Amino acid sequence: MKPTRPRMQKGLDRKAQAYTASLPFDRRLYREDIEGSIAHARMLARQGIISEKDAELIVMGLVSIREEMEQGTFPFKEEMEDIHMNIEVRLAEKIGDAAGRLHTARSRNDQIALDMRLYLKRAITETVGRLRGFQKALLELAEANKSVVMPGYTHLQRAQPVLFTHHLLAYFEMAQRDVERFLDCLKRVDVLPLGSGALAGVPYPIDRDFLARELGFGWVSQNSIDAVSDRDFVAEYEAAACLAMMHLSRLVEELVLWSTEEFGLVEMDEAYATGSSIMPQKRNPDVAELARGKTGRVYGHLMAILTTLKGLPLAYNRDLQEDKEGLFDTIDTLHFTLEVLTGMVQTLKVDSARTRKAAEEGYILATDLADYLVKKGIPFRKAHGIVGEVVRYASESGKGLKELTLEEYRRSSNLFDKDVLNITLESSIASRDVPGGTAPEQVKKALARAREILKGDA
Ligand code: ARG
Repeated sequence: MKPTRPRMQKGLDRKAQAYTASLPFDRRLYREDIEGSIAHARMLARQGIISEKDAELIVMGLVSIREEMEQGTFPFKEEMEDIHMNIEVRLAEKIGDAAGRLHTARSRNDQIALDMRLYLKRAITETVGRLRGFQKALLELAEANKSVVMPGYTHLQRAQPVLFTHHLLAYFEMAQRDVERFLDCLKRVDVLPLGSGALAGVPYPIDRDFLARELGFGWVSQNSIDAVSDRDFVAEYEAAACLAMMHLSRLVEELVLWSTEEFGLVEMDEAYATGSSIMPQKRNPDVAELARGKTGRVYGHLMAILTTLKGLPLAYNRDLQEDKEGLFDTIDTLHFTLEVLTGMVQTLKVDSARTRKAAEEGYILATDLADYLVKKGIPFRKAHGIVGEVVRYASESGKGLKELTLEEYRRSSNLFDKDVLNITLESSIASRDVPGGTAPEQVKKALARAREILKGDA
């Protein structure tokens, strides 16, 4: 007879058993499951609910099970549906009847909620650490290319010149918000559900504050029905992961574009480029493309958990078991992506001659010309029109703005003076001297702030 089927005479159908089993994926929760059980056993003994001797036996048994898990010698029984039953049955093999007392004042419903929260707390710490590593790589690349000028784009058309450093720091900001989102999510993960029992609480004088302290939780759940049925925290992590992946995807999309012959602004290190099986000249950005592609499946996991949760009556339903694979895959995908992209950013080469040339081509200083006229007293809208005329003339005569003479400028407005010829990429960039702008002084401050953020966190 199975420990979970006392009223049933038959075993579960073989296919149904395989269908309902979570062992294939919840075995990665063994550490959290054992940790939770050890704290629970200690609490039961402290409260006089089980004897000290039984608690000692239980803890000893659990510690030796953890060793078996770590050494890969744990005899998994596939027919026991999940990690909890595997550990409980193994405990009985090791210490006999005392094992049966561990599940006093507990249900698998609050047990699994506990395991998931413990697991996710650790995962978030790792996520944040990896985001920090990624930010550090961005910052180093930004620092190493402080004088590089590039075209900033809108609608993927050259718009205004910016410092490459400024562009890269945009991604630093995104990653910073991602870090903050994960840390915020952590507050809501950091709640102890144990003590909720199956759904109604437990009829024993347990000490939940002790459990919270032992397991390092900041808070104790306030409603047992909510505690066993809530998976908001899973959806919340996944939502934060979606945004983080979206940011990474935007970055790699730029790197894919920029490393084409058409742009030629950057070169990805060979260690991050793949070849083609047929075209020998190719250097393909498959790594970047996969980071972009994997964003889709992370979005999928968020949609899946939201859909799983939406129609569920309170409290626990087995549907909740579907929270795991998506969450685990989200964590793995995000962490792996961050790790690989950190290396890619660390080894990225910027072609500062190409970025400058790209900025010089086109009529990227047109806004500066309009601003020049505004400073001479013309309303911006009017200045905008005059410069439009200048640009049309230049383009029709096959010239860049740099090649126009003062006389040619004055065809459109006699407010143009000799100093109009002093407008350059550098003067344009330097003039954006507002907080958050691309002027070197502002970018210097932004770099200092970024360094401060990373230092404060170390
Ligand atoms: N494998 C289950 C899950 O992940 C564990 C909880 C089982 N509880 C139950 N009442 N069947 O949700």
